[in-house]
Amino acid sequence: MPTLMRSTAPSTKEKLVDMQIKTQIKLIKQLETHLDAGTNVDAGGLMLNPANVYADPDLAEHEWNEFFLQHPQVVGLSGELAGPGSFMTIDDLGKPILATRDSEGTFHALVNSCRHRGALVETRERGEEAKSFSCPFHNWTYAPDGSLIGLTKSSHYGQVDTSCLGLIELPSVERDGLLWIHPDPEGLIDVDALLGDELTAEFANWNLDELRYIGGDTYDVKCNWKLAMDTFGETYHFPVLHSETLGLSFHGNVQCYDTFGRNHRMLLCQRAIDEMLKQPQNEWRVTTAGLPVYWIFPNIILMPADSGCYLVGAYPIPGEPNRHISRISFYVWPNVEAGSDFERGLRDVAEGFAEIVRDEDYVQAASQQRSADHGSLEYVVFGRNEPALHHYHSTYRKALGMPPLELVDAEEVPASLNGR
Ligand code: FES
Ligand SMILES: [Fe+2]
Repeated sequence: MPTLMRSTAPSTKEKLVDMQIKTQIKLIKQLETHLDAGTNVDAGGLMLNPANVYADPDLAEHEWNEFFLQHPQVVGLSGELAGPGSFMTIDDLGKPILATRDSEGTFHALVNSCRHRGALVETRERGEEAKSFSCPFHNWTYAPDGSLIGLTKSSHYGQVDTSCLGLIELPSVERDGLLWIHPDPEGLIDVDALLGDELTAEFANWNLDELRYIGGDTYDVKCNWKLAMDTFGETYHFPVLHSETLGLSFHGNVQCYDTFGRNHRMLLCQRAIDEMLKQPQNEWRVTTAGLPVYWIFPNIILMPADSGCYLVGAYPIPGEPNRHISRISFYVWPNVEAGSDFERGLRDVAEGFAEIVRDEDYVQAASQQRSADHGSLEYVVFGRNEPALHHYHSTYRKALGMPPLELVDAEEVPASLNGR
């Protein structure tokens, strides 16, 4: 049974001091209190979420325009572009994008459309040490920073100012290990405003820029992208859906929850906390006690663990509200030796984790989608123990100018449902 990246990594202890120690202790004590008292995080009420938000084509189009075409996106971690000449192609955001690191080490997001007649310049998913990118149609050649450095048979083609015909550059920012791009060439990326001071500081403490990319997987799932996000929003399901997998390593029904503007952080509770709590406090580590799960608005889940990190991105498919693409990437901290058996073991664990998401969580998400599609349920009901779902759905509704969801008391739920 694959577990998360808890392991016997060589000297990972130093890496574990990533979240500020006082925050770690505070969160671990919250978990301890819940475990001792048999309680859980409490949103203070329930929430009725209209089931058609997962199926409505107009809402899907609105989301696509506002959250994907017109909103900054985290497209990976710095380790995904390890050195000069590394690149990856992205086709989830309405236009083909070539993300690169140039010879100076600077991150670029380029429209992957040749300035001659528009062919894709690069068709591979990713690569390293590229000195240039040559279009397969007529061999126009671009440097990793996007500038046009080779124009085939220019004496025949015509003398043009090549400085005007570089690949179109999109806004891009690399900050604390996160690679941000904006799909609109006129778009603005203000990371401080997107994350807020507290989460910016917390991410800086994780040293995410040190993570090395070791692989990933992609799933095409018959469910709305928000249902994929929802599966990462509670642990209520762990002892049931994951009883033979993640439930063996995690206490379900115990978690911490904090919001940071439109973003949030959950801390899931690993069973290893039981032994850890017997140790002196200066040996407590948040990644031993739990698994932090960050949600970066609108569609990214980031989970740093003690040997590495997972990043999940969920992407709608325009015109198909009941289908999306999930991309799961795996990274390891630098103390994991490249090419080692240990690294291979971590990759196996990561692949096992992604398969659990695919075979357990996303099976249920597709099942929920059928319910949203047939329309028999007017509402689904988020519990007091699912605050991340409350926040997530209220947040994106507000961002789209829709009324936020309101808390209702448990005893009001049947009446509320019957009355609507
Ligand atoms: S379309 Fe790229 S070189 Fe002609
Ligand atoms: Fe799950």
